[in-house]
Amino acid sequence: MKLAIFNTKSYDRIYFNRFNTSHTLKFYEAGLSSESVELAAGYEGVCVFVNDQLDAEVIKQLAAKNVKIIALRCAGFNNVDLKAAQAHGIAVVRVPAYSPHAVAEHAVALIMTLNRKTHKAYNRVREGNFSLERLTGFDIFGKTVGVIGTGKIGEAFAKIMKGFGCRVLAYDVQSHPELVALGVEFVPLNDLFAASDIVSLHCPLTPQTNRLINADTLKLMKPNAMLINTSRGGLIDSKAVIDSLKSGHLGYLGIDVYEQEADLFFNDFSESIIQDDVLMRLMSFSNVLITAHQGFFTEEALTQIAQTTFQNLTDFEKSQLNPYTTLVMP
Ligand code: NAI
Repeated sequence: MKLAIFNTKSYDRIYFNRFNTSHTLKFYEAGLSSESVELAAGYEGVCVFVNDQLDAEVIKQLAAKNVKIIALRCAGFNNVDLKAAQAHGIAVVRVPAYSPHAVAEHAVALIMTLNRKTHKAYNRVREGNFSLERLTGFDIFGKTVGVIGTGKIGEAFAKIMKGFGCRVLAYDVQSHPELVALGVEFVPLNDLFAASDIVSLHCPLTPQTNRLINADTLKLMKPNAMLINTSRGGLIDSKAVIDSLKSGHLGYLGIDVYEQEADLFFNDFSESIIQDDVLMRLMSFSNVLITAHQGFFTEEALTQIAQTTFQNLTDFEKSQLNPYTTLVMP
């Protein structure tokens, strides 16, 4: 198949070339949007990532160019208008599980860095400053951790936190007997907010979860609690979080995703004037840690992304799409 791959970086090219056996690949640095959709002309498939915007208009234009399949090289699909794809008979496939451990472990990295301030210690020691002043952390052992969304990533995260010796509370719209058997306590959402020292978000962004963390739910959280978001930026009302941080109620914030990340993440703006005042305010807090959507970024995950994407394309060519990886059948 002739495949146009949008929004690519060096690592995408390395891993897609390494595992390609039968497809003709064209790598574009540009993201896919109404401005760049012309680049899809002549390709049967397009491959996109988390911040490409495939709204109804873009999908209509893809259909007009005879594109037959949209291959998401990610798990989340909130950026694709699935109804429009259905209406135009375009298949949509994704990589549902590339490495749940990668994201779960990154959530733990955010927790440990915020808690033990290793990023500050690293800089201090390199400058010959061996003072421990203001580096006090807390034992994770014995703390209560709330996990919202216990799918593949939430499950991996809950198991790690059990290993730390935490009490793990969870909330999900689906039951999860395996985690219950491991001692994870499923509780109503408000009870999770009220009891947790650390809250970690692992549910998808949907109309129901949009701004799940807002002024009201932040008030339910324990004073000085830690909030971790490695899922999607839209789960959090960033302005409400800033207010809570300013008032001293929210103790720590660790985010790998941000609502307006599409304008910034995955690119180098170190020599530019960043215009996003909300992000810049978040960055100004000493108890906030931001990473630029790197939760997935491990060798294992990049391998799995490339392999599953090629398998999806092969299944499509054989008219044998796998329901597990397919969101829209053509
Ligand atoms: P999954 O589909 O296995 O699990 C999602 C869980 O959320 C399911 O158990 C589902 O029942 C639950 N859920 C759905 N609606 C809910 C609601 N209203 N309240 C509570 N729980 C709800 O997904 P997976 O693989 O665990 O990924 C979770 C999210 O992580 C993805 O949607 C994606 O946004 C994000 N992600 C982030 C990455 C990163 O690099 N930072 C990489 C991969 C995924």
